[in-house]
Amino acid sequence: MKIGGIRFVLRICLVLLVSSAPLVTAQNTHLSIDASKAGAKIDRNLFGQFAENLGHGLYEGIWVGPDSSIPNTRGIRKDVVTALRELKVPNVRWPGGCFGDEYHWRKGVGPAAQRPATLNSAWGGVVDTNSFGTDEFMDFIQQIGSQAYVSVNVGSGTPQEAAEWLEYMTAAQPTALAKERTANGHPEAYKVGFLGIGNESWGCGGNMAPDYYLSQLKIYSHFVRNDNPAQQSANQMLKIAVGPGVPETEWTETVMKAWEHHDWSWNIDGLSLHWYTVASGWPPSMPSTGFGIEDYGKTLKSTLFMDEFLRKQEAVMDKYDPQKKVALVVDEWGAWLAPLPVTNPSFLIQQNSLRDAILASLNLNIFARHADRVRMANIAQMINVLQSMILTDKEKMVLTPTYYVYKMYVPFQDATFIPIDFDPGSLHRDGITLPRVDALAAKDASGRVWLEITNLDPEKPADIDADVSGMMVKSAKGETLTAAAVDSVNTFAAPNSVVPKAVSASVKGGKLSLTVAPKSVTVISLEP
Ligand code: AHR
Repeated sequence: MKIGGIRFVLRICLVLLVSSAPLVTAQNTHLSIDASKAGAKIDRNLFGQFAENLGHGLYEGIWVGPDSSIPNTRGIRKDVVTALRELKVPNVRWPGGCFGDEYHWRKGVGPAAQRPATLNSAWGGVVDTNSFGTDEFMDFIQQIGSQAYVSVNVGSGTPQEAAEWLEYMTAAQPTALAKERTANGHPEAYKVGFLGIGNESWGCGGNMAPDYYLSQLKIYSHFVRNDNPAQQSANQMLKIAVGPGVPETEWTETVMKAWEHHDWSWNIDGLSLHWYTVASGWPPSMPSTGFGIEDYGKTLKSTLFMDEFLRKQEAVMDKYDPQKKVALVVDEWGAWLAPLPVTNPSFLIQQNSLRDAILASLNLNIFARHADRVRMANIAQMINVLQSMILTDKEKMVLTPTYYVYKMYVPFQDATFIPIDFDPGSLHRDGITLPRVDALAAKDASGRVWLEITNLDPEKPADIDADVSGMMVKSAKGETLTAAAVDSVNTFAAPNSVVPKAVSASVKGGKLSLTVAPKSVTVISLEP
């Protein structure tokens, strides 16, 4: 009786222990990679950035002015340019965002002293000196070696204003606007790679109904032209329409149904989609520092919804555009967290942790798996705003964990997707189920295969073994990004808490084996 009682108590203890501990159902992950199989190209434009005139995104983050004691080239921070060049940023979206539908380009050209001060009504009503305008943006784009993605004002502007802006930027012939650009120091016509026709026109861009926006889209698409001779046959500017910000498909239906029967007078090359990870509901209250594993799990669960969101919109696009001529352009995405205490809440300043790095890799992998339709994406935002690459404070600069993910993913730019056969396993904790592991493989132009592995498990390493066929792998090398805790961050005082480190991997008989740390992002190159 006594022994039976002890056994019963022990069994209860065991049940309690098991149910309160994280339940990991797969410790090892097996990947099958056939390097001879090729999917879509992972367009380098998926690694685009977004730099809105918001808070310290442009002013202080990029622009300090030519007279600043912070080292700069024509007013643009040198440290930031050096860091961004490493990312091979394919395109930068500017000036907005909600700000874009309030922006009047003329106020931001010409001698700085003569530019009017205006109010940034979209973001905190602060005074904007307009010292960062079109020519400064183009200078920035050239300094970091990127392409311009310019969003024109549909909400409070006119087709004429937008058409003249494009003429100012792109005309090579001696028109009055091209001469004005020359007088402002830029005789050569700029290239504009991408044109955004409005921003969130269903909301801050004018609260338009889908049909009303469609009629605007047709007008802007026709009249807002790129005159640069170098962009007439090759390198044509791609026109991107406003798309959905909710999973429902009414907006996409309206635009794509009309597009199916479009004539010569209008066209689009892309449809935008905006979706942020706001795990705790609106307004964003999820902290960017000092959180635990439960918030980590909630955030990753929420971010994985991106896949379903894309599928819903793609189903509609496939109906009207089975040849996938129109790209889905996720030109705003990322973690939108609570603003840091004692900052202006309109400036959307948040820290960036290891959790953000893992969130970034999961989204980049989702985009790559949808690469036949999703050919461009812009994380929000580049510097000092939302899930940024870089944080600055006066002369100080720190690179975020998300920055390092983008750096590690450079080899995936324009590489060819290789499908991987694997069981991601599952993690159950705090009522949430997540995949344990995610993975992405691609082949670059030189024939080298790149493998990315994200271990979502916050506590357990994952043993990875991969069969690689279709190529003779002789060796493998790579880097991993992890840190002490899911909320580890880089700060101005401690900038190297979350930085990539070399990881060892062994190859025997074409089989790759490695162990990836808990809560980590790892990129390996497989060497022939
Ligand atoms: O990125 C911040 C804001 O989020 C953008 O201005 C707007 O387009 C979106 O709602």
